[in-house]
Amino acid sequence: MNRKEFVKNAGLAAASLAVLPGSNVFAIHKSHADPKVKMAILGVGFRGESHLDLLLRRNDVEVTAICDVDDRMLARAKGIISKSGKKMPVVYTGDPYAWKKLLEKEKVDGVVIATPWEWHKPMIIGALEAGIKYVGTEVVLGITLQDHWDVVKAAEKYNANVMMMENVCYRRDVMAVLNMVRQGLLGELLHLQGGYQHDLREVKFNNGANPPGRGVEFGEKGFSEAAWRTDHSVHRNGDLYPTHGIGPIAHYININRGNRFLTLSSFATKSRGLHNYIVKNGGENHPNAKVKFRLGDIVTTHISCANGETVLLQHDTNSPRPYSLGFRVQGTEGLWMDVNNGMYIEGKSAKAHEWDDAKTWLDKYDHPLWARWSKESAGAGHGGMDFFVEHALVESIKRKVPTPIDVYDSAVWSAITPLSESSIELGNQTVDFPDFTGGQWMYRKPVFALGDEY
Ligand SMILES: NC(=O)c1ccc[n+]([C@@H]2O[C@H](COP(=O)([O-])OP(=O)(O)OC[C@H]3O[C@@H](n4cnc5c(N)ncnc54)[C@H](O)[C@@H]3O)[C@@H](O)[C@H]2O)c1
Repeated sequence: MNRKEFVKNAGLAAASLAVLPGSNVFAIHKSHADPKVKMAILGVGFRGESHLDLLLRRNDVEVTAICDVDDRMLARAKGIISKSGKKMPVVYTGDPYAWKKLLEKEKVDGVVIATPWEWHKPMIIGALEAGIKYVGTEVVLGITLQDHWDVVKAAEKYNANVMMMENVCYRRDVMAVLNMVRQGLLGELLHLQGGYQHDLREVKFNNGANPPGRGVEFGEKGFSEAAWRTDHSVHRNGDLYPTHGIGPIAHYININRGNRFLTLSSFATKSRGLHNYIVKNGGENHPNAKVKFRLGDIVTTHISCANGETVLLQHDTNSPRPYSLGFRVQGTEGLWMDVNNGMYIEGKSAKAHEWDDAKTWLDKYDHPLWARWSKESAGAGHGGMDFFVEHALVESIKRKVPTPIDVYDSAVWSAITPLSESSIELGNQTVDFPDFTGGQWMYRKPVFALGDEY
């Protein structure tokens, strides 16, 4: 069998595994007598609060320690815990390395990291070195490509799980389309699009005291993400936030599991939006009007794959626009697009050459996970999908099995950022993807959301 045939067969095997409703490749050995899963959270900012809330809602989890450097956010976190009626965790604070003390002293089963991007790599590796076997990290994994290798190697060395908490993988429509793809409705996939198209101007700037909408400060004078995220727009030009788009796409085409990303090239527009926003809201004499932002307003990335698909990703965070991740999943038999809420399947759609309202299809092919857990997910962040990512981490810990999004998935999705920076820096040259799996992508099988458990 040549390589191409092998890869094709691996994909087919994966697809046949995937269509079994209620199937689960993980051995389930859940015991109700098991003690609660002990969790720590590093960073209880706005995203950390959401993780905290989700973990506190669960009866199988005890949040035993939290860490943050900001008294205001810690006070808010304590308020959330008190309201929940759960036991107050041990609080670590006082310096930027207080998390190291937490990892040394607290015996936890898992840790969730929701700090600024530059802290993710040291915190992940710190947790692994402390013997923690399950690390859930917010997007992204690290800053440089080497950071990504360092995290992969550390996870291998300590035989531990590092899961990117990529919640969009669990969006209800995204999962229904995954179900349809696995059942072959769209045919053989050819081309996929997605991205992060979110007007973040009111996130990148504020008045230092309140989140969205007031002021044009950032860095030391900014609050929450304006305190750190905006600096990445000053110094970097690339797709700074690829995982919301690429996570779901990677599952559609079995990346790292019979398929892999081969090459990437990125293109950036000029940078206008952030400067214009400062001038419009702070005046042309505001000191920040002099700041030069490197990040192009719209960064477009093309990716080629071993099995012949193409992927187009867009990062668009500096301009006025309604939110949309811009998914398009196209195969030989039809396609789904989220922007126009359209589905078209040849011979099955109501009229040739006309879009069906996607809702009918998405309802019909609702993923078994959503069908089972929609009551529990009600009220969770981002339309309920946040429940599922926390659920997946906790259930993996309870079952002592690998997380459904593992360190190789996390690394290859997140590495798009440094790779796209390199491509742009090199004049839009095509750059090669590293194979973090060391060739194992040919033998690994899909494990994400194969059934209705987690
Ligand atoms: N998946 C999603 O939908 C989603 C949504 C928002 C944010 N995020 C991600 O979550 C992460 C956090 O974002 P956020 O919006 O909560 O930002 P934030 O600025 O509101 O929170 C970050 C928190 O980390 C704390 N912190 C900073 N340095 C620390 C250190 N050395 N030790 C301990 N705590 C430290 C800060 O004080 C702050 O409270 C980022 O990776 C972001 O991209 C993901």
